[in-house]
Amino acid sequence: MKATIALMLVGTIPASVICAAPVREDLSEDLSIGNSLADMLVAGETVISREQDRINDPKLGDKGLGGGALIEQAREIYRATNGIDPATVDPSSRHGRLLRAQMDAIIEVMDANQATINATGTGFKGFIPAVFARLVNEAFARRAKGEAEIKATGPLERIRNRKARPDAWETDVIKSKLLAPNWPRDQAYSAAVETHGRPAFRVMVPQYYDQTCLACHGSPKGEVDITGYPKEGAQLNELGGVISIILYR
Ligand code: HEC
Repeated sequence: MKATIALMLVGTIPASVICAAPVREDLSEDLSIGNSLADMLVAGETVISREQDRINDPKLGDKGLGGGALIEQAREIYRATNGIDPATVDPSSRHGRLLRAQMDAIIEVMDANQATINATGTGFKGFIPAVFARLVNEAFARRAKGEAEIKATGPLERIRNRKARPDAWETDVIKSKLLAPNWPRDQAYSAAVETHGRPAFRVMVPQYYDQTCLACHGSPKGEVDITGYPKEGAQLNELGGVISIILYR
């Protein structure tokens, strides 16, 4: 696979040999931006997961989970995993711009879904981490205006929402890298690879099923879960999904 080879050789041969378009030298900066955006998305999902019982409590009205409240909790989680306060990332840098666009997308999605989240009389509301993530990624794409894209995808046979299907490159990386028996857990894969006709840097961050996921994605395979989808029969610690990030250059 071209992209893999390009990445492995990046330190040894001039960038011009790898790719016709000029490649910026700072691939490590792009990788850390990719990881940072994945950390923030996961931080938001973690809050939604943690609050799931309260969100689905039919007696409780206002959950206090507006955009501002959610982003504060996500910021704490991000700081614990990433080691830095997202608010301190220079807003005029590429990283700062994209991270802020993503945090604004989180706020937008929470504010837009208050009626659903605070509805009394309904239990399960369908506002689960995966739905939150999809909405945030869509709002982010509008804000990042062709500079970057984030998508939650995974192995094709596990995909529920058609919009989340992996493209050819993602499918190949999932099969040949992330699902390889010797692939280190939690290790992201990244490469400079032309995407949609443009030079781009792509990062694939793996996510694994924990016990909470298996209520919907676990066994018995085929049994319909609370969201109306058939369970996939997944096992604990299997690759459950991938946060796929495209940074256009
Ligand atoms: C309450 C049931 C439920 C739980 C719990 C759950 N999921 Fe899902 N998951 C869904 C539904 C429903 C979708 C489709 C969401 C949509 O409409 O985009 C989905 C979508 C996804 C996707 C996006 C790709 C796709 O299939 O559309 C990934 C990745 C994913 N889940 C992984 C996980 C992981 C990892 C966990 C645990 C941390 C988890 N899920 C917990 C129900 C659940």
